Amino acid sequence: MEEINASIDFDKRLWRHDIEASKAHVAMLAATGIVSSADADEITKGLDQILAEIEAGDFKFTRALEDIHLNVEHRLKELIGPVAGKLHTARSRNDQVATDFKLYVRDEIAVIEAGLAALQFALAKLALEEAATVMPGFTHLQTAQPITFGHHCLAYVEMLARDRSRFHDAAKRLNESPLGAAALAGTSFPIDRNMTAKALGFDRPTANSLDSVSDRDFALETLAAAAIAAMHLSRLAEEIVLWTSPQFGFARLSDAFSTGSSIMPQKRNPDAAELVRAKSGRIAGAFQALLMVMKGLPLAYAKDMQEDKEPVFDALDALKLGLAAMAGMVGDLDIDAKAMKKAAGRGYATATDLADWLVQTLDMPFREAHHVTGRIVAMAEEKNADLKKLTLAELQAVEPRITQDVFSILDPARSAKSRKSQGGTAPANVRREARRWIKRLEKDGLSR
Ligand code: ARG
Repeated sequence: MEEINASIDFDKRLWRHDIEASKAHVAMLAATGIVSSADADEITKGLDQILAEIEAGDFKFTRALEDIHLNVEHRLKELIGPVAGKLHTARSRNDQVATDFKLYVRDEIAVIEAGLAALQFALAKLALEEAATVMPGFTHLQTAQPITFGHHCLAYVEMLARDRSRFHDAAKRLNESPLGAAALAGTSFPIDRNMTAKALGFDRPTANSLDSVSDRDFALETLAAAAIAAMHLSRLAEEIVLWTSPQFGFARLSDAFSTGSSIMPQKRNPDAAELVRAKSGRIAGAFQALLMVMKGLPLAYAKDMQEDKEPVFDALDALKLGLAAMAGMVGDLDIDAKAMKKAAGRGYATATDLADWLVQTLDMPFREAHHVTGRIVAMAEEKNADLKKLTLAELQAVEPRITQDVFSILDPARSAKSRKSQGGTAPANVRREARRWIKRLEKDGLSR
């Protein structure tokens, strides 16, 4: 029974929040005259001592005492005697654990938001450096059109901005205090829930006692946001794996972020990127696990809900680590601009530019221009040559009105530079956007 029932092995992580919430509770009990000020002072001193003991690593957590709440309360009794028993007046472990867990998740969200911003900053800085670095842009992982590497980096900055706003939103909705809901029905004591809510930094108390002790939406929302953020990290990780492979050769990770093979001396394995990619699996799994725990639970609290903590701890730890590793890798990436540019010249990346030229210069309908370009690409494939390497005569054999001028737009760098439409890949756009992000992140003090 003890082995299945006890949660102390993992919920001891909530110690700081548990004591914080208990202190707020006892201060309220004294303010409302439910316990005497003298008793409240004694309890508060005892709680502070326990805090110091845990901080110093001197506290003995025991499984026989089931969870963090009972471990703390038991120690309080050892320290101050029977008056310790007054702390649990007008509350239950059900509202207590909901409160502790919300406080914990709220703190974690703040750390994750900062981690997301730090990664945004690293990417925006790289984007500014590589604003004019031309690379092939892909769709279906097939060469599509030339883009700039800075533009590619800024795509991730946008994704991470949405992640930040999802976490921010979750923290806002989380911020109602369950404390005072007691076991499920509220209490007959004249408590002041506004007072404890305010003391703990909540916006207000929750409105319904049943909902207060049975709600884990805040954990689910946070895990959902984490799963989406982890998916973004996984995509970037996958790109780093591709870029640093000898087949692409677009970038290189230093020894700090790669590992060698014990048998193949030439290898530089992007282990950190691969692990970030893999962690998205366990983070998404955590969301699914808690969703399945909650589904079908009748109101109000059920012990099933004790299984809420491990997925949250594990997933948020993994996300924080992934964010740090990714920020490190982005800062560490050594970009091979030459290799990127060369690749951008292969795969007929400027075929769309040719079609656009036919439209703009010869007033050809786009569909016809697309067809003509297709025939030119087929000819280039047959001759195993880039578009740029075809002669004017060869081009004119397909479309007689083509002139020498066409060669100017077959260059990948020019192609990227021409895409100045709002949100487009042109270096001028990238510089402007990267600077805007850097300024914004610095202003919010989120650049580290
Ligand atoms: N350890 C429990 C949890 O994490 C605390 C709440 C227990 N409440 C109860 N009525 N058994 O959910």
